[in-house]
Amino acid sequence: METVRGSMYDFPAYYDLVYGSDWQAEYHFLCGSFQRYADGPVRRVFEPACGTGRLLFRLGRAGYDVSGLDLNPRAVEYCRRRFVRHGVRGRVWTGDMADFELPRPVDAAFNMINSFRHLQDAAGARRHLERMARAVRRGGVYVLGLHLTPTQGVPTSEESWEARRGHLVVRTRLWVKRRDLRRRLETCGVTYDVVTPSRHLRLTDEVSFRTYTWAQLRRLLREVSAWELAATHDFSYDLSVAVPVTSTSEDLILVLRKK
Ligand SMILES: C[S@@+](CC[C@H](N)C(=O)[O-])C[C@H]1O[C@@H](n2cnc3c(N)ncnc32)[C@H](O)[C@@H]1O
Repeated sequence: METVRGSMYDFPAYYDLVYGSDWQAEYHFLCGSFQRYADGPVRRVFEPACGTGRLLFRLGRAGYDVSGLDLNPRAVEYCRRRFVRHGVRGRVWTGDMADFELPRPVDAAFNMINSFRHLQDAAGARRHLERMARAVRRGGVYVLGLHLTPTQGVPTSEESWEARRGHLVVRTRLWVKRRDLRRRLETCGVTYDVVTPSRHLRLTDEVSFRTYTWAQLRRLLREVSAWELAATHDFSYDLSVAVPVTSTSEDLILVLRKK
């Protein structure tokens, strides 16, 4: 087995095979939540930290006018090529979700699987929500998915995913190495096992996330007063069930509406 240390986001094809294969539930949830929670029609959609664009290109194919940014140029390039391949006339660029401006406001935005928690300090998180508030028109929505730190019970400390295409199998494992709730920082180990009949490659990485209890997240939302909370759901992506947040909640989708 060959082992390589590097950023998991530098291998967009492997990332996309694992996290892109299970897109339907999120995709339908997004389309439904735009309809249900935005005031007025949604045509223009933006994704900060869009990565490989696994959801964005599908929204583009469905007729939305899409755009996205990501810090990782390799992911951006992957996404851009994908747009071209699928005839999507979207715009995607390398940028920081805590420091960007759009040429004109969009009707809706989304950020589904913890990317927001990559912003590791209070200033960055706040700046992101402020920038997003400028990027989304009044009555538009921002659908934000993240894991909370529960204040009761034992938090989940590990997750694994596997996907296969032909003879290529990618298995990922992400586990919490350190959780410092005082500094609000969770450091996770990551491995990607990439297996073909002739090769076994292991990519190893370490990523850090800012932690949020529900109280900490609500405090942040109160600080950025441009948003109102329209609904809360969870990672079952069932739009028909609004899920109340409790002390044991972990996965959370906030639907924020621009005031
Ligand atoms: C878990 S991936 C999610 C990608 C995509 N949103 C999805 O749903 O598949 C997190 C992404 O956040 C990006 N990222 C991390 N920090 C960022 C920042 N400050 N600004 C923009 N993108 C960032 C990473 O490069 C990576 O592509």
